[in-house]
Amino acid sequence: MPGIVIVGAQWGDEGKGKVTDLLAEQADLVIRFQGGNNAGHTIIRDGETFKFHLIPSGILYPGKTCAIGNGVVIDPAVLTRELEELRHRRIDVSGLRISANAHVIMPYHVKLDTAGELKLGKLEIGTTRRGIGPAYSDKAARLGIRVQDLLDPKILRKKIMTAMEPKQQMLRPFAKDPELDLHTMVETYATYGHRLEPHITDTAKLCWDALDADRTVLFEGAQGTMLDLDHGTYPFVTSSNPVAGAACIGAGVGPRDIDEVWGIAKAYTTRVGAGPFPSELEDGLGDTLRERGGEMGTTTGRPRRCGWLDLVALRYAVRLNTMTALAVTKLDVLSGIDPLRVCVRYRHPEGAVFDEFPYHQSIIHTAEPEYEELPGFEGDIGDCRREEDLPAEARDYLAAIADHMGIPVRLVGVGPGRDQVIWMGSDRQAALLRSEARSA
Ligand code: GDP
Ligand code: IMO
Ligand code: MG
Repeated sequence: MPGIVIVGAQWGDEGKGKVTDLLAEQADLVIRFQGGNNAGHTIIRDGETFKFHLIPSGILYPGKTCAIGNGVVIDPAVLTRELEELRHRRIDVSGLRISANAHVIMPYHVKLDTAGELKLGKLEIGTTRRGIGPAYSDKAARLGIRVQDLLDPKILRKKIMTAMEPKQQMLRPFAKDPELDLHTMVETYATYGHRLEPHITDTAKLCWDALDADRTVLFEGAQGTMLDLDHGTYPFVTSSNPVAGAACIGAGVGPRDIDEVWGIAKAYTTRVGAGPFPSELEDGLGDTLRERGGEMGTTTGRPRRCGWLDLVALRYAVRLNTMTALAVTKLDVLSGIDPLRVCVRYRHPEGAVFDEFPYHQSIIHTAEPEYEELPGFEGDIGDCRREEDLPAEARDYLAAIADHMGIPVRLVGVGPGRDQVIWMGSDRQAALLRSEARSA
């Protein structure tokens, strides 16, 4: 039975947290498979806001098994804080499981992330400065510290020394930083290990057992396809693979365990951090989208860059992830904007036309978007719960997206609240049946 992957179809912040929370109701296990606390996933339930950075977005269902897979990089300071905050809000976190093989973000990773950005100056990537890139670099260089290493102070000490050795020169400016003192690091991280120990396990086996028993496993992606280390707008990307294929590696399952891939896309586009963004609106309309969509970063609080929906990039994401369905969020934000535009191709200043996402970095940087115009819609759609409640123009907008992508739009977001969604077509029937079964 189903393994369902949830991926960001754009540059992150598409509403993965909200959709994961919704689908998690039917799932037995929710597992994060890549990224770290560069992610910020928001869930608004009964007016209460939750922002998750490491803990999977299924944790609000009491006792639900929620796993942090081997592919995630974990800052234990952030994780223990997140756990504390949830406990404080009386959320049951007993279902949290942490892969013993996940890598750990160390204080020197955070320092090196910031130092690297400062060194790049104007060319900076605009990272979240959470140590993500340096932690994944150490993993690839086989100098990483893993969660299981936190459980043995002797091993931990040796591994930290080995990992820091080749970084001596880069870390020289931090020589007197108490956070980087070897003894302090070993003590602090061993304490984290001790606190997290009850949650540490083999999370791949949790997935196999659930799938073998015909249960549903949700693989919760972080970031988005266009931030993928291999397929995104390199070097303005993150240091992991947010695409669906990475769910296999980052959770420890095989490709045949995946049955569905849901791509989450906003009804427009946003990006936080530097890098090319062909359909960006650097005018008043961009500001309007930012204000109305509350487009400030969940993790860093930075304003997000906003623009029209880019169907060239979205088609690329559909293919890269073999998406089976789309969830389109934040349709409500487009209300009152007329006409609406969607980018259908790029044009290079020298005339070449690109219907497909170009592989060449300088083309992506200079590409001009070409738009198709669609009629806008009016009014507050936040209370719409059925497809037919939406204005005809809003339905046409969604139909145009589905047509261009060749896959159905199965879920539409009409507001930040958990219940502010529309299940499209027959999915609505399924959702109603589920809610009837719940209230029976
Ligand atoms: P994630 O990183 O993909 O989980 O997305 P974020 O949580 O970083 O950003 C999405 C933001 O949009 C959050 O503030 C959500 O509460 C909000 N949001 C999600 N879906 C909708 C929607 O359909 N309409 C509106 N107005 N806001 C939404
Ligand atoms: P969620 O899961 C949006 C961006 C950063 C930067 C680039 C590299 O909430 O969608 P990093 O710290 O990963 O080395 O930064 O990636 N970025 C995100 N943008 N949403 C995210 O996560 C992001 N995580 C990283 O802004 O451009
Ligand atoms: Mg986010």
